[in-house]
Amino acid sequence: MEKIVSLAKRRGFIFPGSEIYGGIAGFWDYGPYGVELKNNIKELWWRTFVRERENMYGVDAAIIMNPKAWEASGHVAGFSDPLVECTKCNRRFRADQVGEKCPECGGAFGVVKQFNMMFKTEVGATDDALVAYLRPETAGGIFVNFKNVWDTLHPKLPFGIAQIGKAFRNEIAPRDFVFRSREFEQMEIEYFVRAEEWQKAFEEWRVALHEWIAAVGIDTKRVSEYEVPVHDRAHYSQRTIDFEFEFPFGKKELYGLAYRGNFDLSAHQNMSGQNLGIQDKEGEPAIVPHVIEPSFGLDRTVLAVLTSCYREDEMDNESRTYLAFPKAIAPIKAAVFPLLKNKPELVAKAREIYAMLRKTEPRIMWDDNGNIGKRYRRQDEIGTPICITIDFDTLGEKPELKDTVTVRERDMGTQERVPVSALVSCL
Ligand code: GAP
Repeated sequence: MEKIVSLAKRRGFIFPGSEIYGGIAGFWDYGPYGVELKNNIKELWWRTFVRERENMYGVDAAIIMNPKAWEASGHVAGFSDPLVECTKCNRRFRADQVGEKCPECGGAFGVVKQFNMMFKTEVGATDDALVAYLRPETAGGIFVNFKNVWDTLHPKLPFGIAQIGKAFRNEIAPRDFVFRSREFEQMEIEYFVRAEEWQKAFEEWRVALHEWIAAVGIDTKRVSEYEVPVHDRAHYSQRTIDFEFEFPFGKKELYGLAYRGNFDLSAHQNMSGQNLGIQDKEGEPAIVPHVIEPSFGLDRTVLAVLTSCYREDEMDNESRTYLAFPKAIAPIKAAVFPLLKNKPELVAKAREIYAMLRKTEPRIMWDDNGNIGKRYRRQDEIGTPICITIDFDTLGEKPELKDTVTVRERDMGTQERVPVSALVSCL
């Protein structure tokens, strides 16, 4: 784990939040390569689950919602974790994560209290400002827009609404890098079905989750399903499967797949007084659909991908570290090098090729610093799939090799001579 955290910081993927002030527990900042990686994952997810499916619709709802929405969903009353405080040093812990005594000072704990994890804020400038919450799950913004989507697009069941966005939880014990943070991103789907069809949809989503896990570059051998028992399920769930991943700190929840019945739509219907029933079939009474919810944590995806793709080996009698990202999520798609940076004719040709490639794919990096071996290592560490070197043969020193370049592949380090005209297809 230390190696991944250190690589993530050293190479500009993830930094501690507001680090110059000593950081703040549970908050992380994504750096230049981290934000590209995260955006690539979001893009792949959106394409897979929204654009490529005919019955999926996207929304981007406000983070702060009318607080009644969180009363209806049960979060105001019940979105809490058990908290204990040490009677000696007053440190606080999650009761289910500690033993009988305080791990810091050995003191005894007081009684267990329920601690609500929603962050509160105030809306408006008046003395009686509205107390509102930063959303603890993106799902809420989907449920309150269910009727808007249905009224405007009139989809037939089954159909889904998807959202990617920030969620906030005042975790008692944020830990394990970005695994449990207080501000994180979720990619969620509420898939609305007729009550009698929930099992079928649940099984379909189960398969879709496994396919996604393989496509995004997570090691499928480290993933397993856990059928969550009744007493551990969220208040809204009638069935939940956790997709667990063997993180470096143990096997933990990566994603969740839940059958929420029609708990949410019914609760919002009761609280808002709005009719959220829809007429799915001519001549039938209106129904309040049931819902299957595949829920993906984006930051846990990033951590599982980094863990799965992290490799150490030996190449050219040197040890190296590389990230074996699938092409679709690699932050940088290719790097272009002139063999020597003090030969203007090489630099000019390399610049020309670099500019040409960037017209098709802008995520290409220029590097002329240090020897070629060092440049390869730098790109390996950020997971760049190919490196392109422009040398004297490109300029025609060997006439038969004119306008060809060396393309070196990241994982095996193999090199081949490729015509410049074929480079776009290599990307
Ligand atoms: N809408 C359902 C829901 O929010 P959840 O199991 O509480 O269910 C869904 O969260 C996913 O969000 C988790 O599987 C995990 O990937 C991610 N997640 C939850 N809490 C998190 C935290 N504190 N830090 C990072 N990711 C978190």
